[in-house]
Amino acid sequence: MTTPVDITFTETDLDAIAGATGRVAVVVTPSGKMDAGARRVNRVAKGALKRFLESDKWEKVKPGEVRSLAWPAGLEAEAIDVLCLEKGADPLETRKAGAALGKVKGAAELLVLAGQVRRPGELAQGIALRAYTFSDRKSEAPEAAGPVTVMVSKPDEAREQAAPLLAVADGVFFTRDLVSEPANHLTTTEFANRISGLADLGLKITVLEEAELEKLGMHLLLSVGHGSVSPSKVAVMEWSGGRKGDAPLALIGKGVVFDTGGISLKPAGGMEEMTMDMGGAGVVVGTMRALALRKAGANVVGIVGLVENMPSGQATRPGDVVASMKGDTVEIINTDAEGRLVLADVLWYAQEKYKPAAMIDLATLTGAIIIGLGHEKAGVFSNDENFCDKFLRAAGNEGEGAWHMPLGEAYDKQLKSDIADMKNVGGRPAGSITAAQFLQRFVKEGVPWIHLDIAGVARVGAETDFAPKGATGWGVMALSRLVADQYEGD
Ligand code: BES
Ligand code: MN
Ligand code: ZN
Repeated sequence: MTTPVDITFTETDLDAIAGATGRVAVVVTPSGKMDAGARRVNRVAKGALKRFLESDKWEKVKPGEVRSLAWPAGLEAEAIDVLCLEKGADPLETRKAGAALGKVKGAAELLVLAGQVRRPGELAQGIALRAYTFSDRKSEAPEAAGPVTVMVSKPDEAREQAAPLLAVADGVFFTRDLVSEPANHLTTTEFANRISGLADLGLKITVLEEAELEKLGMHLLLSVGHGSVSPSKVAVMEWSGGRKGDAPLALIGKGVVFDTGGISLKPAGGMEEMTMDMGGAGVVVGTMRALALRKAGANVVGIVGLVENMPSGQATRPGDVVASMKGDTVEIINTDAEGRLVLADVLWYAQEKYKPAAMIDLATLTGAIIIGLGHEKAGVFSNDENFCDKFLRAAGNEGEGAWHMPLGEAYDKQLKSDIADMKNVGGRPAGSITAAQFLQRFVKEGVPWIHLDIAGVARVGAETDFAPKGATGWGVMALSRLVADQYEGD
């Protein structure tokens, strides 16, 4: 599926440097201070590294950047990658620096002399996150990614520090793979099958089929899938790493495997991008995988609505009125505003069945959020300032862009319908906010809730700090961090 990034920590062995193949990375401070590993590289390369560090070329290099010296004399390696990193670099700076190395690494084997790095775990995580490539659908097999060896003075300590971070990176990869898959491959059934595979990690998986969804009264969700031959499903992943009986955090995801708009058909140009309309569900699944891999000490339940929004003779029409699981009726003005219909029923189901301590939903919900925030930040909506702040802090610490957006009574009025309890669109003004207002109508009083509109950040057209162009996995790191900081008791 992906190019796996195989990372091992070993004790520093300076004698291995001269014969190392692939690339050799050294870490140097902005002022040009070398550690023992860098000094040895310099000696073997007959002073080339020192000459570079004393040149005006190095003056221009900023912390977190890499410069490469190609085909250095004296070494077997094809390049020396010189990473500029401050001695006191914080975890996020260290991870960004690792990502810079992961980018130049390409398919090559990489030896990193990390003796000077205080947080080798974050360095390794950064390398992994950026070295990822999605290559599943090319007929020619991609060049196998070379392994990464990180040399440190205390490999056991480094391994222990890195383990949870690499677990999170693995979750990010799972999300990116799902988001990258075309819709003819990632059908609702295939998505549910991949989720079922996570049972091996100790997650309890339940997949609800259409007959059960019907019985539960999830007509809003079902109405979205009526036009598709792919059956609608709800998949539940339970991780019970916390105290028995503690109410779980619920993570809820929009999993529209393809969004044509339905009868309110989207224009042809760019419609292929709607393979990523399951991005919210993708992040929920990747996060659950990360939590299981790092054996998080918390109770978390992930619930995703898996549907395909297609036009057909059976498809929902504009003007149809459909009852939600909650009981409220919805006039469907526009069948392209389908994500909120899916989430409304899943949110209600989550509260009825799991009585969660708090809920976070993720969805590629509106084009309007891209107009507002671009591809840099996700929109954050919440009914609870305190909970919202905690999430924003977690996202900030993980380097994942997030911006607090407003909610309010005045916006809610835009959803008024003449013939039903509400309509599913609120007009052009504040499109992302009225979408969030729609969701809030399905959140019970007193349940802290956050809605993340990730339409702009789930997949991007240019590389980011941590990801090559394409699916980012935005949110897995922030959510895993939020769980660690707020739900894992010590
Ligand atoms: N999946 C789309 C939102 C979207 C747009 C995601 C672009 C990623 C990139 C969503 O279902 C949708 O179609 N929203 C409509 C809502 C409108 C009909 C009220 C939109 O944003 O145009
Ligand atoms: Mn849509
Ligand atoms: Zn959609």
